[in-house]
Amino acid sequence: MKNIMVTGGAGFIGSAFVRQMVKQHPEFTIVVFDKMTYAGNMDNLLPVKDAANFRFEQGDIADREAVHHTFETHGIDTVVNFAAETHVDRSILSPDAFIFSNVVGMNILLETAHKRGVERFVHVSTDEVYGDIEGDHFSVEDDSFKPNSPYSASKAGGELLVRAYHVTYGMNTVVTRGSNTYGPYQYPEKLVPFFVTEALEDRPLPVYGDGKQIRDWLHVEDHAGGVAAALMHGQAGQAYNIAGEHLRHNIEVTYRILKLLGKPETLIKHVPDREGHDRRYAMRCDKLKALGWKPQYDFEHGLEMTVDWYRNNAWWWRKIKTGEYLEYYKRQYAARLAAAQQA
Ligand code: DAU
Repeated sequence: MKNIMVTGGAGFIGSAFVRQMVKQHPEFTIVVFDKMTYAGNMDNLLPVKDAANFRFEQGDIADREAVHHTFETHGIDTVVNFAAETHVDRSILSPDAFIFSNVVGMNILLETAHKRGVERFVHVSTDEVYGDIEGDHFSVEDDSFKPNSPYSASKAGGELLVRAYHVTYGMNTVVTRGSNTYGPYQYPEKLVPFFVTEALEDRPLPVYGDGKQIRDWLHVEDHAGGVAAALMHGQAGQAYNIAGEHLRHNIEVTYRILKLLGKPETLIKHVPDREGHDRRYAMRCDKLKALGWKPQYDFEHGLEMTVDWYRNNAWWWRKIKTGEYLEYYKRQYAARLAAAQQA
């Protein structure tokens, strides 16, 4: 392993992985390959952009020629795939892009990697492939897939392709399934950065339904470390859960954010629920722990640091919250907030 292509490396979790790898592993060249959709952001890579072992190529995993060109130019022997459409609400509004990137693009990337004889292929997936987890069950890697949104169905489809390439062609693949990730540089459409940045501007926080949905919160540095552990030590053909081990109701997270910012609870608006909304995600991650990884961040402290980061880095999110973002905000929230107002 020498030249590692990190697809989607300008996104939230991908860029955290890149920042860690560039700094901790000068023996590897890290080649970011990113389509630079709305969620890709060069600002996320500012801390490493001048490093001697960092390279950048703009491209789409669904573009065979661009992928092939990057493999050739940089002598790629390892791929870590973060490239994906990731936001559940956007997948409900328009599923096409999710199938295109997360399934069709996935296949093109896998096929090109297989033809080139890439030595190791790590694919970053999600706990959402397990679907809604009832009672007090915690998902383990052999549990069946029951995805409920176009997003999670597309991630499950992508993962099944990875499995097929391992079984059919003997590719050296590893899959990771991470839980809800939070931290600096997260596009402000996801719960934590959305609510923090909205509250900072004294705007309403649209909590879906009763807010009693449960998510397992994982700090982005822990997520990136988990992917690195799977890359270095994971067994070929295996999947590894990366859990934060901090289950919280959404409403608890919302109260906590408001408290940290000293903002009033009257900003909370209970709006009509997300369609097909999974109530609970929960996973065990003993398999990854056996490789020497464990989450380092306590949620309360991690959230406090994260809130501080958004408070101190308004330059980063203010320029995002314009144009396309505002269009999306209107499509997703205008009717919901109006309905909440009427109720
Ligand atoms: O579980 C891992 C997954 O976590 C990743 O695979 C996804 O890419 C990532 O988007 C995330 O999915 P969620 O749907 O859980 O994350 P999101 O931040 O959109 O929502 C977290 C919870 O907060 C969820 O129960 C919906 C709720 N929510 C979210 C938003 C944006 C609200 O109540 N109001 C909101 O405005």
